[in-house]
Amino acid sequence: MLRTCGRRLVALVLLWHCFAPSSSSAAETCGTVRTSYNPTAALRSDAFTVTPGDPRWSAFLAWAKARKLYTFQIVGLSQAQTGGEGPPGIIFRWATDTVWQKDVVLPFGQALGHMIAERRWRDTDFPEFFFSRGGIFGVDLAERLSALDAQTLRPWQEFFHSVTAPKSPARPRLKARLLSVASDGQSAVIALGQDRATIYLADRLRSDLSLFLTDCAVAEFFEKYDQSKQATPGERAEGAAEASTPEQRVHLPSNQTEMLDTFPLRGKAVYASQCSGCHGVAGDGQGMLTPGWLPRPRNFARGSFRYRSTPSGSPPTDADLFHTVSKGLAGSGMPAFEAILSEQERQDVVSYIKHFSQRFASGSEPRSISVSAPPPETQQRIARGAALYVDSGCPSCHGAEGRGDGRSGQDLKTAEGDPIIPRDLTHKWSFRGGHTPSDIYRRIAGGMDGSSMAAYEEVLEPNDLWALVFYVLSLSPEQRPQAEHRQ
Ligand code: HEC
Ligand code: HEC
Repeated sequence: MLRTCGRRLVALVLLWHCFAPSSSSAAETCGTVRTSYNPTAALRSDAFTVTPGDPRWSAFLAWAKARKLYTFQIVGLSQAQTGGEGPPGIIFRWATDTVWQKDVVLPFGQALGHMIAERRWRDTDFPEFFFSRGGIFGVDLAERLSALDAQTLRPWQEFFHSVTAPKSPARPRLKARLLSVASDGQSAVIALGQDRATIYLADRLRSDLSLFLTDCAVAEFFEKYDQSKQATPGERAEGAAEASTPEQRVHLPSNQTEMLDTFPLRGKAVYASQCSGCHGVAGDGQGMLTPGWLPRPRNFARGSFRYRSTPSGSPPTDADLFHTVSKGLAGSGMPAFEAILSEQERQDVVSYIKHFSQRFASGSEPRSISVSAPPPETQQRIARGAALYVDSGCPSCHGAEGRGDGRSGQDLKTAEGDPIIPRDLTHKWSFRGGHTPSDIYRRIAGGMDGSSMAAYEEVLEPNDLWALVFYVLSLSPEQRPQAEHRQ
């Protein structure tokens, strides 16, 4: 009973509906059940309403663990996406081999968040697949697949086809299950594949459970709970008041719903399904998938961006943001959306994220730094760049050999107070803003606002900037170094 999302889903609430469980025939089986949770009405067959505030919550998690209900595995790209309508999705099979088993399609952005942010999947995790496709580099999964072909979903199709095949050694990696629950029910350890684990907080657990459960489907729990414990009248009243609305189910405080409602609908829907898991519903960088993550997903409310063509202190152009969304930021977990979202959708989401900050309010497009045509790359110029590298103070952060280990670089903080490491310049593939000569020119000329990387546009002539660019590029080998493959 797979439901997929239509292309024209417009609001968060609708979005919820498109991967909400469809009401099932279970309704008929619990119509007459009355428990302390539903003393006067039938259990809901269209929603799962138990919340972490309910006195039954901890008991519910323990029961869910015993019944092997909180398990899921990734089973592939959703069919509708590969051939037909709608933005791409990835199918998660919940509660495998139980009566609660259900396939839920998660929008690509959320699923990417899970695979990259929570599971930290890299090409090294799937050596069988990547070995025969150019090698293994220790690069995150989405980045590696888009390096195979950024324009289409073909690499993803091949990937899922291969890793979900019956004899694939990768199959156990695709699974996850609840390992243990804290005694207060406010957190749980989740085993991811065979060798990784993570902690989910209660809100996250609830949000997952509500993807595939209804109150009616877990009537057995409410009955068992009452049997094991004589429910007091107080609890009864509390339980009855807990019924939640769809907005609460996606954890959207009502004031935020209103705020979002005033913005262009199309970009909002794209943002909600593809970006909010990491960047947060309110654009504050506090997404549900990335707590404690470094680098932290950008806080759009600050309006400070690093991958710009504009001078230091200026906001980025629309084209800059479009470029970031399309190509992603290498090695940071920020995925490339080129193959996932249409050009229109990427433009829409760019205008949407600008609404999070006042800095774009003027509406006028900021000036881009002019990048002259690069002069020829000569040994002389590289030598000049090497001298400029020292004179400009780059080694203090990036180190004498460019390995990112300079003395002042040890203890740097971002504008938000997070630790930040100067880039290893001997590995140009790790440059987030790209490693063509003009990409690097823009980074050095315009600086990287919010990090400690200063701007050199006013300090150095264009010719000297190019010399630095060539020197930086000369620090990396021709070919990207491979990680070892052990059979
Ligand atoms: C898997 C998590 C994840 C998802 C999904 C994600 N991002 Fe990001 N994004 C990040 C991280 C992490 C950074 C910060 C990288 C850094 O600082 O180097 C980032 C940075 C950015 C930046 C900042 C670029 C700059 O110049 O400073 C923009 C813009 C952005 N993301 C837009 C989006 C949009 C739009 C979407 C949805 C279409 C999205 N992101 C989805 C993790 C994510
Ligand atoms: C005060 C410390 C500091 C100094 C001085 C400094 N950098 Fe950086 N640089 C950084 C940090 C920190 C980052 C990583 C920023 C991030 O991850 O957001 C960085 C990133 C970079 C990048 C990577 C851009 C990308 O797309 O990922 C390049 C290239 C670079 N610096 C070159 C230089 C050069 C050349 C100089 C001297 C002209 C220099 N830096 C001086 C701190 C510094």
